[in-house]
Amino acid sequence: MSDIEQTTIKLTRGVPATEAFPIEEIIACSATVLRDHGKTLLQYQPAIGFLPLREIIASQAGVTPEQVVLSNGSIQLAAFLAEVLLPPGEAAFVEEPSYDRTITTLRRAGVKVVGIPLEDDGIDITFLEEAVKEHHPRLLYLIPDFQNPTGVTTSLAKREAIVSLVKEHDFMVVEDLPYRRLRYQGSDLPTLRELDAKRVIQLSSFSKLLSPGIRVGWMVAPVSIAKQVMQIATDTYITPNMLGQGLAYEFIHEGRLEANIEQLHALYAPRLAAMLNALSQCLPQASWTKPEGGFFVGLTLPAGVNSARVAEKAKEEKLALSNSAGFFANGDGSRFIRLPFCALREEEIEEAIKRLARVVQAINQQ
Ligand SMILES: Cc1ncc(COP(=O)(O)O)c(C=O)c1O
Repeated sequence: MSDIEQTTIKLTRGVPATEAFPIEEIIACSATVLRDHGKTLLQYQPAIGFLPLREIIASQAGVTPEQVVLSNGSIQLAAFLAEVLLPPGEAAFVEEPSYDRTITTLRRAGVKVVGIPLEDDGIDITFLEEAVKEHHPRLLYLIPDFQNPTGVTTSLAKREAIVSLVKEHDFMVVEDLPYRRLRYQGSDLPTLRELDAKRVIQLSSFSKLLSPGIRVGWMVAPVSIAKQVMQIATDTYITPNMLGQGLAYEFIHEGRLEANIEQLHALYAPRLAAMLNALSQCLPQASWTKPEGGFFVGLTLPAGVNSARVAEKAKEEKLALSNSAGFFANGDGSRFIRLPFCALREEEIEEAIKRLARVVQAINQQ
């Protein structure tokens, strides 16, 4: 038996490939930034984060630095935003399915989380209109580009429809964009913030573009919201992880980030192609999304094949799968499987989908 046949393959977490980390460059940037900014980075600082990095992000977003808040990963900012925008008991909408940790973060804040069904081109707008009338949400949380867990990108028509509905009913949107720069084909659509800067708050992160271990995420928001988030951040940790922020700053300042993103495209695009190809070869009875970037393909199992049973039986085939129910605010997910492809080599992806196909076939025949 070859090595690959004996090992467990993890189709669970959406993590970057470790071979993508530019370790030597990070060592060099750490030394430089500590030499140039050490007295700032090693001291307590205002919770809003390292000014030189905020200035870069602000100039790219066309906003002022006071609208940019840095924190220890974007998930921390999502938790702060829930506290600022959502008194307990209020409703927040998420795509159904959505990023499982945002769902749990919102729930921990006492928020009523309502899922809006996600279609191949974004959420179901008719459903959204009805749900708005019923629940009067304070917030809609979306991942418009290469969504986690499905890989779906929201179309321009739906972006426009969402923004117009949000304006009409006066609630806020959080658009979470950690995968936006990981486009392997096609062209970018406008962000929701570009369509409505007043009601759309943007979250993003260096986790998928450089490293999640440095824990640097950012938010672009109206000043009043940025100030409230900063107050909670101050009360929570006084100062965020300045070293990570200094490192991200230096990496961009030296012009390394764009080259790194290009390398990520070169590494990940063939992995996405291998995933789509393996699905066509091995699982023609299922259906799946066809993303042009990001980390995930979303699989819909054939009718009658339950994802929890597939995940259980997959263990016998040395294949680890995520708990699909966690991605669904309504706890369903019975026919859904998230397939992350970035952290696996092409041959591992092919082997993983072969194993998955054997499991699906075995369950189908029972
Ligand atoms: C949509 C989405 N938001 C946020 C995060 C977490 O990002 P960070 O590492 O910046 O907290 C992830 C990570 O998988 C994600 O998929």
